[in-house]
Amino acid sequence: MNILDIDFNTLYKEQKNITTFKPKTKEDWNAKAKDMDSRIHQSIYNEEFLSRVDTKECTTLLDVGCGPGNLALRFAKKLERVYAMDYSEEMLRLLTANAASKKIENIETLQASWDDEWDSLPSADIVVASRSMEVSDMAQALAKLDTKANKRVYLSYKVGGSFVDTEILEAMGRRIHPKPDYIYIVNILYKMGINPRIDYIESENKKINFNDFDSFRESTFWSIGEMSESEIAGLKNLFEDENFRKKPQKPTYWAMISWEK
Ligand SMILES: C[S@@+](CC[C@H](N)C(=O)[O-])C[C@H]1O[C@@H](n2cnc3c(N)ncnc32)[C@H](O)[C@@H]1O
Repeated sequence: MNILDIDFNTLYKEQKNITTFKPKTKEDWNAKAKDMDSRIHQSIYNEEFLSRVDTKECTTLLDVGCGPGNLALRFAKKLERVYAMDYSEEMLRLLTANAASKKIENIETLQASWDDEWDSLPSADIVVASRSMEVSDMAQALAKLDTKANKRVYLSYKVGGSFVDTEILEAMGRRIHPKPDYIYIVNILYKMGINPRIDYIESENKKINFNDFDSFRESTFWSIGEMSESEIAGLKNLFEDENFRKKPQKPTYWAMISWEK
């Protein structure tokens, strides 16, 4: 057996089919947008991501899965034109309002999905897809990013195969099927003839920084879906455990994968 015999995109798809972390719909993201907008702009993740993007000799950027604009608004200060693309109209509405309140006028919003034909989307010097690549066909999505980029592509993807901490899962007594880890992406790119650079972003973990149990339960529900009574009871015990709450939370790690054209 040779590594070239392994079809990592098929393995990715198989893992995506069985994972506990089910894909979100546009409506899910619409419903999440306001809450996300109230917190995401303050995260250390934004500057960590930005500091790793080389904008030298670039004037345009396409932000795929831009959310409420936490990155697009920052890039707009460095570049002539930013195309902010998302399938959630609520995310785009918030982004537009955020840009207006900061008097930023060089962002163009585009409502589109990973699953659409991208022929009508503009190309840009830099294409980014930050934490937005929960796609069913990874090879196809990577090819789309590559096609739209004139110079560089940057994407970030969760390290570790789970959106929920092991300690929380154990307290609930929940066994999960992990989602595909970032290493699938590296191998798929290699097969596509692309040798990516890999870096890691350490970001704060806000999962447990909630004042009330309902918010904590809601954030766990967002990641893993329906929970049984006994799982909720386990979650509550953990939430009420002073030692757990006082302990510094483990950071979240994102792989930042990039390549030049
Ligand atoms: C976790 S947020 C990331 C927001 C921002 N890029 C960041 O890193 O903070 C994921 C974003 O991807 C968008 N998204 C998810 N699936 C998508 C799809 N199939 N097509 C387009 N956008 C999608 C969601 O609407 C959401 O705004």
